Amino acid sequence: MTASQPWTPDQPIVRIADVYKSFGAVEVLKGVSLNVMKGEVICIIGPSGSGKSTLLRCINALVPIDRGSIQVEGLETHDPKLNKLELRKKVGMVFQQYNLFPHKTALQNIMMAPVTVLKQDKAEVEVRARVLMKKVRLEGKEHSYPGELSGGQQQRVAIARSLAMNPDVMLFDEVTAALDPETVKEVLVTIRDLAEEGMTCLLVTHEMGFARELADHMYFTDRGVIVEHGPPKEFFSNPRDPRTQEFLSQIL
Ligand SMILES: Nc1ncnc2c1ncn2[C@@H]1O[C@H](COP(=O)(O)OP(=O)(O)OP(=O)(O)O)[C@@H](O)[C@H]1O
Ligand SMILES: [Mg+2]
Repeated sequence: MTASQPWTPDQPIVRIADVYKSFGAVEVLKGVSLNVMKGEVICIIGPSGSGKSTLLRCINALVPIDRGSIQVEGLETHDPKLNKLELRKKVGMVFQQYNLFPHKTALQNIMMAPVTVLKQDKAEVEVRARVLMKKVRLEGKEHSYPGELSGGQQQRVAIARSLAMNPDVMLFDEVTAALDPETVKEVLVTIRDLAEEGMTCLLVTHEMGFARELADHMYFTDRGVIVEHGPPKEFFSNPRDPRTQEFLSQIL
């Protein structure tokens, strides 16, 4: 495991080098390497079980790696001496299941981590939380409970909750997969807004039109390896590997 390094913005903000991960006898990541520059949007696609979620979870150290290195802004995320809170402040993650606290309002959900984990001043956090509600286009829903919001609205609260920690990198794992088609778009618009503001985003998604439009770089994973990657134009119109070709032919 390499030690944390000083980081400057001309270096990858996320640097994944030769990462291996097994669950018992199942090898899930088999030498994955991938770099993301600040402000880039990368999309990862691939068959079910190919290790996409595991890779994202490894980045913010929800899952330990067996071998290799993952650095975020030079911080070695799998250094046993790492202060996890430091990493949590750098990397936000949003899942398919938004998991909001049902007995707290949208605003309270957003305020929770900065107040309880970061011990920030409640009044200041509230001001920021209200700005975030506007950013995800949910002004007026501050006092709604999750049960009173649509799936797409809840997912946008979940995104705002993640942004409340002021991360430099956002990980999105199939955040629209559980939504009704009519609310998918509003969540994608939120992510597009974020990306256009310069947020570094790593997305696992099935929204190919969105990926094509927004991604700086596409990655295709199969059985724990990155089979192919490239700029979206090339990736979608001229995939080289037969596995990518087959996958794309099934979903496009
Ligand atoms: N915590 C875990 N314990 C044991 N096995 C796991 C665990 N998490 C993932 N796996 C296994 O690792 C493999 C990859 O899973 P992963 O969730 O990363 O795939 P994925 O590409 O995200 O798939 P999907 O498209 O279905 O979300 C699968 O075989 C899965 O069963
Ligand atoms: Mg997954």
